[in-house]
Amino acid sequence: MKENVFGSLIMQDGDAAISGVSVRALADQYGTPLYIYDENTLTSTMDAYMDEFRSDEFETRVVYATKAFNCKAMLKLCDAHGLYCDAVSLGEIYTAKRAGIDLSKIYFHGNNKTAFELNRAFEYGVGTIIVDSKEEAEKLVSVAKDHPETSMRTLIRVNPLIEAHTHKHIQTAAPDSKFGIPIMMKERLLETIAILQSADNIHFAGLHCHIGSQLFELEPYIKAVEELADLALDLESSLSSSIEEIDLGGGFGVWYTDADTPNPIALTCKTILDACNTVFKEKGITPKIVTIEPGRSIVAEAGYLLYTVTMIKQSLKDKFYFVDGGMSDLIRPALYQAEYTADLIGDSANEEKELVTIGGKCCESGDIVIRDIMLPPAKEGDLLLIYSAGAYGYAMASNYNKQPLPGVVFVKDGQTRLVIRPQTLDEMIERECD
Ligand SMILES: Cc1ncc(COP(=O)(O)O)c(C=O)c1O
Repeated sequence: MKENVFGSLIMQDGDAAISGVSVRALADQYGTPLYIYDENTLTSTMDAYMDEFRSDEFETRVVYATKAFNCKAMLKLCDAHGLYCDAVSLGEIYTAKRAGIDLSKIYFHGNNKTAFELNRAFEYGVGTIIVDSKEEAEKLVSVAKDHPETSMRTLIRVNPLIEAHTHKHIQTAAPDSKFGIPIMMKERLLETIAILQSADNIHFAGLHCHIGSQLFELEPYIKAVEELADLALDLESSLSSSIEEIDLGGGFGVWYTDADTPNPIALTCKTILDACNTVFKEKGITPKIVTIEPGRSIVAEAGYLLYTVTMIKQSLKDKFYFVDGGMSDLIRPALYQAEYTADLIGDSANEEKELVTIGGKCCESGDIVIRDIMLPPAKEGDLLLIYSAGAYGYAMASNYNKQPLPGVVFVKDGQTRLVIRPQTLDEMIERECD
């Protein structure tokens, strides 16, 4: 367990408390698997980004990448703490609408937006669309004709081709990436801007990039500032307008295991802002807005996943502790070998630890939650608390093997609020026709 991250977690005899709430009581009330978020950690992380990502030279925006964990309660918290939110689908936009947040503060991303989604974006008053390709610009212009009274702000997503050291599946600026327009395709970029500017109600505002996720190095962000500033200067020489906004995406790494070395938020923000100050002056460009889009780093460490140990099995090689969930509620280990750390919550906490593997209950050999972890001896009914489970966990949960979706609770200073009800068996099949 990482002390400074899990400051509000207290291990007690046979129980644990997160922000003053007993996890055993949560398991009794809401069942397991259950996602638990420490609301104080969520909001203090949001506030840290808002406080540290500030400049006297330009407006700064912190856009929470909601794909990491999207639900009405989370979006409302972001809104209340001054963050913008992104969305990558109509579902995410609709959730924001239902949460009652100001949709002009939504950044709509995605490499494959449908005409239907673009139409809804106009109707709902989405603030900014990040255009991924020339083809999307054409589609957007055609959709914009049906909304002559509504003006739409746009950025263009550029692939800056910056190597980021992370898992292949979460690299987004590789030469074979499906995202954005490669930075060296200047003609294509100019054509895309010209298409956007051909519509009276589309405003081309600037450039966006996102270089990858779970990054611990800050140099790629400095490189991204340099690349986008170079491009802005180059484009401005061919355009009558200037580049108003530079959006550098998210991807800031978090702690999952002791192999991970995240940067403090203050350092990340300062590095990016210093790079902007220096590089913009050097190039003589004056963007009005600089934006970052943290997702994982806002929610990961605030979130826990609580399981019950339901079976213990010695196989040929491994001793398995099986839990009452698995890849249906936490697919990252199976999807891209993500690693997690956990503690057993039972009455054997002080006994000698042994090497075990946490297995899920789905019918896939790959459904291993944690391979090889030292834990005290478990018995059926003990609880297992997975740390740093708040990002891309619930968000990627599915009904695979007809496992109902887990519930989500926020805890804060001894109080609990249910933000997503655990799905019932009937809810799971109610859309099925006879
Ligand atoms: C465009 C964009 N912005 C921001 C993010 C957030 O990344 P992270 O959750 O690693 O901060 C992503 C993640 O895929 C993204 O695609």
